[in-house]
Parts: sequence; C-alpha cells; structure tokens
Amino acid sequence: MLLNDCVCNTTITLPSSQVQLHLRWNTKTYTGSILVAVNPYQLLPLYTVDQITLYCNKRIGELPPHVFAIADNCYFNMRRNKRDQCCVISGESGAGKTESTKLILQFLTAISGQHSWIEQQVLEANPILEAFGNAKTIRNDNSSRFGKYIDIHFNQNGVIEGARIEQFLLEKSRVCWQAPEERNYHIFYLGGSQGIHAVYKGLSACRSFLCCIGTGRVFLTCGCDVAQGDCTSCDGRNDAKEYAHIRSAMKILMFSDSEHWDISKLLAAILHLGNVEFEGRLGIICAWPFLRLDVKSLEVLIVQAADGRDAFDMSKTVMMGSHFLLIFPQGIYGRIFLWIVNKINSAIFNPASQNPKNTRQSIGLLDIFGFENFDNNSFEQLCINIANEHLQQFFVHHVFKLEQEEYLAEHIAWNNIDFTDNHQALEIIALKPMNIISLIDEESKFPKVST
Ligand SMILES: Nc1ncnc2c1ncn2[C@@H]1O[C@H](COP(=O)(O)OP(=O)(O)OP(=O)(O)O)[C@@H](O)[C@H]1O
Ligand SMILES: [Mg+2]
Repeated sequence: MLLNDCVCNTTITLPSSQVQLHLRWNTKTYTGSILVAVNPYQLLPLYTVDQITLYCNKRIGELPPHVFAIADNCYFNMRRNKRDQCCVISGESGAGKTESTKLILQFLTAISGQHSWIEQQVLEANPILEAFGNAKTIRNDNSSRFGKYIDIHFNQNGVIEGARIEQFLLEKSRVCWQAPEERNYHIFYLGGSQGIHAVYKGLSACRSFLCCIGTGRVFLTCGCDVAQGDCTSCDGRNDAKEYAHIRSAMKILMFSDSEHWDISKLLAAILHLGNVEFEGRLGIICAWPFLRLDVKSLEVLIVQAADGRDAFDMSKTVMMGSHFLLIFPQGIYGRIFLWIVNKINSAIFNPASQNPKNTRQSIGLLDIFGFENFDNNSFEQLCINIANEHLQQFFVHHVFKLEQEEYLAEHIAWNNIDFTDNHQALEIIALKPMNIISLIDEESKFPKVST
C-alpha cells in the first residue's frame, strides 16, 4: 500500500558475517537498480560531506556503489520526472537498515540545502524514536522494535518543507520481559540519577526494577524457568550522555517541559507496576502514585479486570491479576509511543497546499524491524517475520518474476533462474481470506482461552 503510485528503489543490507566481501572500503554493489550493502561494523570514511558532494547529481554507476547514489537517484528522479519516490530498505536484524536510513536522510537534507529549522526537526526525530522504539537484542545493540515509514516532503524547488512518520507494530511485550542478554527500550536506562531516574524517587538504580532486568511478570505469571534479561548496560552506548541528547531533541520537536515530565511519570509508573507483588489476599505492595491511583484503587482495578467482581477465588484472581499487570504496562507504553509519534508529526508535518501551483513531492523511506529467529520466538517475531517476507516477495517479484517475464516477452536468450518463491507461504499465513492470522484474530476476541 505504501508503495502505490511511486517509483521504488530498494536497498538491501546484509550482515557482514553472511557475505564474504574482501573489498577495501567497498561494502556495496548493485544488482540492477538495487543496492546490496554489507554492514562493515566499523566507521569508514565513506559518509563525509565530501562524499555527499561527490555523489550529488551523478548517474547510478558513474561512481562506486553507495547508499548516497541511491538517495541522489531518488531525489533527481523525483525532481526530473515529478513523481514521488520510495526507498525500501530490507535485510535481517543487525544488517544496517536504520543506519542506511539515517544516511539517506542526511544526504537528502544536505542536498536540499537550506539548513532550515524543519530539516533539523526531521533529523532530530530519529533519536527520540530510537530511545522509545529501539532496544538491545542479542543481534543488535540498537535494534528497531517497530517499523517506520518516513515520508519527506519537498516543495517545488526541491527544498524539504516537512515530513510525516508512520509507525507499525511496536513490540510491546519487551516492556515486561526480555530474553537473556537483552534490554528493555533504551529510554528506561537513560540518564542515571540525573535523568529520568530522578522521577523514580527512592529507587534510583534501574537494577531495582524487574522490567529493566528482564525478570518481569511473565516469569511470575507463567512460572517459566527460562533465565531472562539480566542486562542493564550496553557496550558502546553512553546512556547518561544520550539522555541529554534526547532532552534537547524533544525541545527541538516542541515537547514542553510538562509533557516531558508526564512521559517520565508514566515510564516510572510502568516500572513500578512491574514490581507489584501480591500478598496472601490480594494486597499490593509497592504501587506508586504516578498514575494518580492509590493502592486501594489499583487493587480494585486489578480485581475487576481479573474477575469482573469483588468476591473472588484467590488463586485464580492472583493469576488473572498478574496477567492484567502484564498487559496494563504494555498498553500504557504503546500509547506513550503513539502519542510521541503524533507529537513529532505535529511539529514536522505541514498539510499539502490546495494551490495547484504549490504541488509538493515526496520521498518515502521504509525501515522496518529485520527478520529474526531466536531460540524462543513469540507472536511478535511471527509478525516481524511476516512483514519481512512481504518485502522478500516484493524483491522476488521485481528481480526474478517481472525481469524474466520481460526477457521472455522480448525473446531474449536467457537461462531461467530458479528461485524460492514465498508467495504460497504468505498466502496461508496472511493473504487468503481464511488465513492463520485471521484465525488467531478471531480466537483472540474470545474473553478466555479456548482450545
Ligand atoms: N554503514 C555502517 N557503517 C558502520 N557501522 C554500521 C553501518 N551500518 C550499521 N552499522 C553498525 O551496525 C549496527 C546495526 O545496524 P542497524 O541498527 O542499522 O541494523 P538494522 O538492520 O536496523 O537492525 P534491526 O532490524 O535489528 O533494527 C549499528 O548500530 C552500527 O554499529
Ligand atoms: Mg533498525
């Protein structure tokens, strides 16, 4: 849907472990109009201002393959052909999609050339989204746990006049549980005692919170004996310094002090809800007033959610209450994230002018969570991987199916290439009228588990 009525370029990124390219500094190649890039996992002098100038206004192939060449191609096709463009960035987790997206954005802001306030706002949206939507996983210290589509709008002179961000499918379960060696969202660790933790009053270290060390409610609820999380630091990230960056980015995107404070209080509430324990009768230790709830109100809320009434079977209620406390923080976090995306859009999005003389064009950048396969995969991995399989189908369709059909139509001598077509798998999982996702959706509408 996002790709309708626009010209599409594709960048595919690969983790360097999978592809053995021993080219000095050249980590990219083309296959047709598609750039294949290998993550170098080191800072190479390939993304400097000089490189931007070098790649500006050059035809694809004139210079060595580069993500800037793709960005340049998008920009000049948009201006020359007056057609919206789209860049699909695909690859498995850790392959370098988010970094490539940022490089394309950096190139576009540089060549559209105004160094304006709106350009700065568009650039500063990224660190905020990453703080709330990225986390350390075993594959990537800065793994995107949501999909994003950034539509950058240009005026008739090719100058950036705004942007709009769409987000997809934030992995909310991470708020309450993380796999071994993984962390919760970055925002929960930022700032130390000077930063967001100042709100947590009394419990300053993030190790005090089950949500931050991964031994959260799933463990308590399901009695699952898998060791979890237990990781609060992340090599190569400076959580204290990053907090100052996020604060200034939020100011640039017009978050007021009171809005920042409200977000911090909600985050504190999530952490405290993660620490709620049950005593004999459903008494609750350690609830916190950030949700403007006293202990009694929270208790009533949990009991009602668990049983829908006040008198209850204790063993059942504690379990249902635990489930409620597993879902409630995720619901809050999901809404904070949505609110933040809307807030960013309210700063960077300008509705299109009705004047036909001021038509605007756009370049869309799609950066989703990459394919992943862990020892234990949840429903969210299924969703992430389905999204990736759709992109794979897009790739297969363009690179193999359409290309070979064209060769056949033009009677060009051609050795047919065998390829794995995932279309049937996609149909069963998500496309046919009766598919696995629609069955799961139907089941989930029942109030209780059915077998
Ligand atoms: N072009 C690059 N040059 C140097 N290092 C890079 C480059 N691209 C990626 N990296 C390194 O690889 C890490 C992972 O990259 P990135 O976060 O972009 O992966 P991703 O494909 O978005 O993964 P996910 O699907 O988990 O979000 C980065 O944090 C960075 O350290
Ligand atoms: Mg990413």
